[in-house]
Amino acid sequence: MNKDKPADITNPFDFVLFGGTGDLSLRKLLPALYFRHCEAQLHGDGRIICVARRDMNTEQFIEFIQQEVIQHIPSEHFKQASWDGFIERIQYLQLDVTTLDGYNVLGEMLSGREQVARVFYLSVAPSLFEPICAKVSEAGLISKSTRVALEKPLGRDRASANEINDQLARVFDESQIFRIDHYLGKETVQNLMALRFGNALFEPLWRREHISDVQITIAESLGVGTRGGFYDQTGALRDMVQNHLLQLLVILSMEPPASSDSDAIRDEKIKVLRALKPLVGLDAVESTVRGQYKAGAYADGPVPGYLENETVPDDSNTETFVAIRAEIESWRWAGVPFYLRTGKHMESKLTEIIINFQKVPHSIYETADGFSTPNQLVIRLQPQESIRMRVYVKAWGDDNQLQPVHLNLDFNDVFKKRQMIAYERLCMDIIKGNQTLFMRRDEVDAAWAWIDPIREAWKTHNVVPKGYTAGTMGPAAANALISREGLKWYED
Ligand code: BG6
Repeated sequence: MNKDKPADITNPFDFVLFGGTGDLSLRKLLPALYFRHCEAQLHGDGRIICVARRDMNTEQFIEFIQQEVIQHIPSEHFKQASWDGFIERIQYLQLDVTTLDGYNVLGEMLSGREQVARVFYLSVAPSLFEPICAKVSEAGLISKSTRVALEKPLGRDRASANEINDQLARVFDESQIFRIDHYLGKETVQNLMALRFGNALFEPLWRREHISDVQITIAESLGVGTRGGFYDQTGALRDMVQNHLLQLLVILSMEPPASSDSDAIRDEKIKVLRALKPLVGLDAVESTVRGQYKAGAYADGPVPGYLENETVPDDSNTETFVAIRAEIESWRWAGVPFYLRTGKHMESKLTEIIINFQKVPHSIYETADGFSTPNQLVIRLQPQESIRMRVYVKAWGDDNQLQPVHLNLDFNDVFKKRQMIAYERLCMDIIKGNQTLFMRRDEVDAAWAWIDPIREAWKTHNVVPKGYTAGTMGPAAANALISREGLKWYED
């Protein structure tokens, strides 16, 4: 590492982006790299080689991304001079990923640069992971400084995920594999760790003796749109729970790691995944709710139901909503319910973690609400990052009558700057070779090991999704699930 180089700037790199004309590249990856370029965090000797099937040369590709990428960069953050510098880094290569010829051309482009960080970013259908890995290996393009980054879905179940991981392991060492869960790149998810492990305040309270229940909600206002074909084969359990929701759960509940070293953190994460109480058979049926959205309306107009989507079969039983009551079998968490829910076409886009603390054991005060909702920590990840702590205070003027108020921390007010998109941090970490925010093979495996029996139980017991009106917070059964324990989903 160059001693004169600030730590937040990468070393020289070649970032080879397979699927360079795809939606993710245009909407997220190229804008993310552009932003890091603007912040002068990409080394001057850093190249971005976009690879795709389309017949174009670099000049035409640049023209194409002027149209397709700039529209995803908010105009207040677009600087023409920086963009002009950014596109200097870009080259385009037309390549049929299944035949060796193109890889030889790629080899020529990369040759003589074996020492620089070489990233193969696979923003392609999972069926192409294997052929691409095999071909880059066959073409001799893997050096010690090579890393491969993969987008989810990593399999449909434990067996198929293992198959993909075996294929990767044939050509890459685990230290070279970066499995992406973009939620881990979100600032707030990292702030969750900062909150827990950068403050002495919370740790003594972060356990079953003080916490009564935890709720994690990832609600989306959009439906499946044009992704119906893919989504119908996937469903919310695989699309959101196996990865994003479980990652939030794990970061929230893991033991403090000994250091910020990537394996120190991932070793703690895997312990939680393995400690999740298995949900099998009728237990799985009783602890989960499947839902599917029906036609509904938002302020800006009506939306059709899932089954009315042209890309979805008329009789589909795929879930667009899931709610789960989970438990972690450990000394810290035994008996604390973790309620998870996620869905498409819910009331609004919202990702939120609610930590409900125990009630006071003996109250000397009266409260307007009978201490019905005790102290509560509300960590909001989206749309705006904030942390709110609900405490009781004595209302001015009233004798001994307490009422709840919120201590509010809105990150926008504190930092007053653009919030990074998740892929900025992730792309930087891949180039730098920092695996902390990426899923290790055993993590993916443990997550599927918990998910598979739920799906199995739904199949065996013929659990069909319950309808919910688009624009609401899911089926009534999700409320019934949580109210069995005398609890209710948090509402702002
Ligand atoms: C993706 C899912 O992983 O995450 C999508 O495949 C979902 O279905 C998306 O819409 C949500 O991500 P975010 O960052 O918008 O919350």
